[in-house]
Amino acid sequence: MNNKGPYNAYISAVGSYFPDKVINNDYFASYLDTSDEWIVERTGIRERRYLEEGKAASDMAVKVIESILEQRGIGPEEIDLLIIPTVTPDMIYPSTACIVQKKLGMKNCWGFDMLAACSGFIFALTTGAQFVQNGSHKKVLVVGTEVMSRLADPNDRNTVVLFGDGAAGVLLEPTEDKNTGIIDSLLHIDGSGGDYLKQPAGGSAMPTSIETVEKGLHYIHQDGRSVFKFAVKGMADISAEIMEKNNLKPEDVAFLVPHQANLRIISATADRMGIGMEKVMLNIDKYGNTTSATIPSCIYEYFKAGKLKKGDNLVLSSFGAGFTWGSVLVRWAI
Ligand code: ACO
Repeated sequence: MNNKGPYNAYISAVGSYFPDKVINNDYFASYLDTSDEWIVERTGIRERRYLEEGKAASDMAVKVIESILEQRGIGPEEIDLLIIPTVTPDMIYPSTACIVQKKLGMKNCWGFDMLAACSGFIFALTTGAQFVQNGSHKKVLVVGTEVMSRLADPNDRNTVVLFGDGAAGVLLEPTEDKNTGIIDSLLHIDGSGGDYLKQPAGGSAMPTSIETVEKGLHYIHQDGRSVFKFAVKGMADISAEIMEKNNLKPEDVAFLVPHQANLRIISATADRMGIGMEKVMLNIDKYGNTTSATIPSCIYEYFKAGKLKKGDNLVLSSFGAGFTWGSVLVRWAI
């Protein structure tokens, strides 16, 4: 996506929040036919976090935004736009963006939720960057927040072990340096993959009823093997494509920041890019798949640990329900 605007958007602050409650693999092995060994070997996940009852996606987004505002030394009234990618909004409407706006008193911003499943952060980051690049907005928040534990059927070993709760996001601001920040973006959707991963009930096609609840149609339904196959190809291809398009050799990439769904999908992507696993941001072992929060939470951890330096090329890549997939090239600016 070529930026024809007067500015580039750069990430000026980053935040992340995970609930305290740790759910390890042995918890599932205590009531399902599964084991810590199977889950670690097939997915790379050792534990995940679950949000306490009574709290929702908006509560975690608020924590992330509070830490971003503090980091940047600004008040909530300075935010112009809030985009919340999520598949687990507090409710269908009002949007989680509206709920968060009220909770934080962000009185000068507008905003909306975005639904692109595991590609939510990549899609929302690209969207938010447009408003900064064209000069119309100076401070745009993109915050993924997901309570996946409420969508996963606790008795389905195929899905429940994969997901966790968490939130993370970034602040975007303008820079006149067109060689820094969000440099490029490749995004795709292919609705013919829709049946492989979906939450069938609760929308206008199949409104919630006693029958849909009895059949568990409000939970995640996934053909894991098929999604796996498409995800390996989709994420590897798009990551290689963005490198090629921007003339990046493996040694030019500081980090791959992949969506954390399965360690095997991630290592296939790194292989295809020609980079070693030491250049791959990972936290799947601690948090599992937190959908739109995985990528910014990795960036936050590596930034906090002092592992990022100005000028580093980060390749952000994702694949998710829809199907949706994409890659964003970020040149780190802070
Ligand atoms: N414990 C033990 N056995 C299990 C478990 C479990 N937790 N889950 C599945 N199995 C069994 C299956 O039932 C199957 O048994 P069968 O052969 O008797 O039918 C066997 O293990 C092998 O199943 P596969 O599906 O072939 O296992 P696979 O190696 O593919 O791993 C997994 C399954 C982890 C789900 C993998 O397919 C995967 O990661 N898929 C992609 C997930 C993903 O990326 N989703 C997209 C993002 S999510 C989003 O967009 C919201």
